[in-house]
Amino acid sequence: MSYFKITGGTPLYGTIAVSGSKNAALPIVCAAVLAGEPCRIENLPDIEDVHRIIEILSAMGATIEQPCPSVAVIDPRSITEYRVSNEMASKLRASYYMLGALLGRYGHAEIAQPGGCAIGQRPIDYHINGMRSLGANVLDRGGIITAVAGELRGADIYLDMASVGATINIMLAACRANGRTTINNAAREPHVVDVANFLNAMGASIRGAGTDVIRITGRRDLHGCTYAIIPDQIEAGTYMVAAAATKGDVIIKNIIPAHLEAISAKLMECGVEVIEGDSGTEFFMHVRAKERPRAVNIRTLPYPGFPTDLQQPMTSLLAVAYGNSFVTENLFEDRFNHVRELNRMGARITLNGRTALVAGVEKLYGAEITATDLRAGAAMIVAALMAEGTSIVRNIHYIDRGYEKLTEKLRGLGANITRVEE
Ligand code: EPZ
Repeated sequence: MSYFKITGGTPLYGTIAVSGSKNAALPIVCAAVLAGEPCRIENLPDIEDVHRIIEILSAMGATIEQPCPSVAVIDPRSITEYRVSNEMASKLRASYYMLGALLGRYGHAEIAQPGGCAIGQRPIDYHINGMRSLGANVLDRGGIITAVAGELRGADIYLDMASVGATINIMLAACRANGRTTINNAAREPHVVDVANFLNAMGASIRGAGTDVIRITGRRDLHGCTYAIIPDQIEAGTYMVAAAATKGDVIIKNIIPAHLEAISAKLMECGVEVIEGDSGTEFFMHVRAKERPRAVNIRTLPYPGFPTDLQQPMTSLLAVAYGNSFVTENLFEDRFNHVRELNRMGARITLNGRTALVAGVEKLYGAEITATDLRAGAAMIVAALMAEGTSIVRNIHYIDRGYEKLTEKLRGLGANITRVEE
């Protein structure tokens, strides 16, 4: 197993460019199944999760060319399968997007029940109920979900929670259903909008993405298109936190400022300098910190609230804040596994249900720490970069899932990080 060796204490300094959004890329690659012609998808992040979803499509018979890691030309016409094998699905939770895509295209889909992970149960009942509302007969037996629909019909759907996955999965199936579908209490995340824009580029008719009511008019035939994925707001936010944690001075390029409002506001509340800039050709965020951050309270919420995916890296920053912070995780029931590791570095964090009380300490100390999930891994990186001494971060395959060229990008900012292949 490989690990990172990081010696902390060096302020990050310089400029990095953000890659394409993981959480937009995964459903967009699946959505290409709905087209009657090849789709060219650009600005794909070169990360493990994207490699996995492309492997799944290839295994089902799709013809996929990748002139470079950030581009995929997907021709779904050669797909012969409507099932995603257990072995494939277990490699990637987001394979559940194939449910909506295959159902939308073939009226038949078979996927393995995606597992939960270290952040909670993560059921997909909203997805299944949505498909049933569209007229599909869905059986969930022995970990295999089979959905069959002679004809998908538009429906008026209400989501109990503004679920990102369920919103997107229902959009995928509804864009080829007969009639109109309305998704009420829809998720408003930027990646939901990006998927809707991609589907509309294919000739779909989706209105209202980015609001909590999305209206879809089904279209029988969707054509190919060329589309570039939006920048990854969570990758950008992670580097903003790392810049603040190391008292650095970093410019983060290739961002969409509106997607970073929540993290920018919270960092400024901590006393970090966050300046939004426009070079004439692209936006950038300039993050600078000289002092120890002030304690703040965090409550994760669906977009545009504070993103749950930045809760873990932010907790690392607050571990050395001046004062006590309360961090409440409202989206997932078990998203504090990074706390144990931070406390091993000298943090003083106590848990009470969905809230962590972070009593700020002067500094963290290097230690052998373990990533328990993707964003916990990001939290470990932030902590190790600011800790006194050297840390070993294990289970970094989690980090490879969602952060492109992390070692190169951090080294480019002056970080003392080495990837060691054991
Ligand atoms: C997406 O997960 C992201 N993953 C997650 O990012 C992100 O944390 C999450 O949205 C929230 O923003 C991808 O986009 C691939 P949800 P998703 O459905 O769609 C409950 C990362 O680090 N729920 O919005 O699975 C669920 O248990 C990952 O990049 C149901 O109860 O999240 C959770 O408590 C981690 N039933 C809440 O809703 C359902 O059918 C929000 O989940 C669906 C969800």
